[in-house]
Amino acid sequence: MTNRWLPVEVDTKSAGPDFWVRYHAYRRLRHAETRPDDPITPDDVVEGEMKREDPYELHFRYEISDGNQMLSWLTAGAIRPGTPGYDTNKHLLWVEGSVHRHHRRQGIGRTWIPLLLEVMERHSHTTLSVGTEEKSGHSFLKWLGAESKFTGAENRLKLADVDWAMLESWIAEGRKRSPDTRMEVYDGRLPESMWDDYCPQFSSMLNTMPFEDLDHGEIVVTPPMLAEWLARMDFGNRVGHWMLTREPDGIISGITDMVYAPYTPTIVHQGFTGVRPDARGRGLGKWLKGAMALHVRDLYPNAWWFVTDNAGSNAPMLAINRAMGFRTYREGSEYQITRDALAARLQLR
Ligand SMILES: CC(C)(COP(=O)(O)OP(=O)(O)OC[C@H]1O[C@@H](n2cnc3c(N)ncnc32)[C@H](O)[C@@H]1OP(=O)(O)O)[C@@H](O)C(=O)NCCC(=O)NCCS
Repeated sequence: MTNRWLPVEVDTKSAGPDFWVRYHAYRRLRHAETRPDDPITPDDVVEGEMKREDPYELHFRYEISDGNQMLSWLTAGAIRPGTPGYDTNKHLLWVEGSVHRHHRRQGIGRTWIPLLLEVMERHSHTTLSVGTEEKSGHSFLKWLGAESKFTGAENRLKLADVDWAMLESWIAEGRKRSPDTRMEVYDGRLPESMWDDYCPQFSSMLNTMPFEDLDHGEIVVTPPMLAEWLARMDFGNRVGHWMLTREPDGIISGITDMVYAPYTPTIVHQGFTGVRPDARGRGLGKWLKGAMALHVRDLYPNAWWFVTDNAGSNAPMLAINRAMGFRTYREGSEYQITRDALAARLQLR
């Protein structure tokens, strides 16, 4: 097949103003297509984060443009050698890509295949992972021969509809059922003095999330990684809120966190919520979520929505979220294909 589209690698640290004009115009177009009712992250925040050195991840970024107009953007990420967790994650290449909606079905999307194979071969990745929540994405990925390995959804809670008295009762019930368990609240930043204690317990809870059939590695969060994450939050003026339940022996039995960004004042993001397997069934999840919801409502009276992502198979989390009033906003799937299958697909074309 002759190819009239030319992917060009972008080094965001040295990219000039022309690139950023093209990129932000394209980003706006995609935002209008996928999240038209939400505020958009400001250019300087996005740009600053893309320019920042990432000590733990490799990023490969490419554009296909026609003059001043970006037609397609592709970004791939992988764990950086030497990062904790490298051994179980090194085979994975995580990709996001899209084509300008007025330029689809002209063969631009398929242009990425040889390039992705080249990146995978260069860095010894054997599994390619791509998510989509759009019909065109599902069709394209099925055409490619990738398989859906994980389904999930962005769920949203409209604060105006919340039964706050019910959440108060979850808190009372949680306290009653676990009278020796302490609730800890941290706003703004998790204090550095507790990172050594928090990180291994946080990591072990993250690894209890259901991943369905997804090929994935172990999640490892170390204090320096948490420091980097917090530094990125500081750069974007984002504010974190953490609530923990702690048992009398000092073990953290449950965690929930939320992040507020001043540039999206109507939306507060709910991050991870987890309860240790040996502490489940005591109402800690409801206690944590109820307490956090009330806390964040009081802190941000202009917020309309809480937004969270959940695996379709995460029955306990979905049960709590549904009871709170979270409703499905957009469903999506993560597809994966091996490097060998992708190479074979390329031969077939
Ligand atoms: C997915 C996407 C990148 C495909 O880009 P594209 O340039 O249109 O893809 P191509 O033209 O190379 O399509 C290759 C084949 O995929 C299949 N395909 C792509 N889009 C399709 C659609 N909307 N409906 C049915 N089949 C489709 C077709 O078989 C097509 O070959 P054909 O046109 O010869 O029949 C684009 O639709 C997009 O940006 N979607 C939104 C973002 C997204 O979901 N990205 C994640 C997935 S990569």
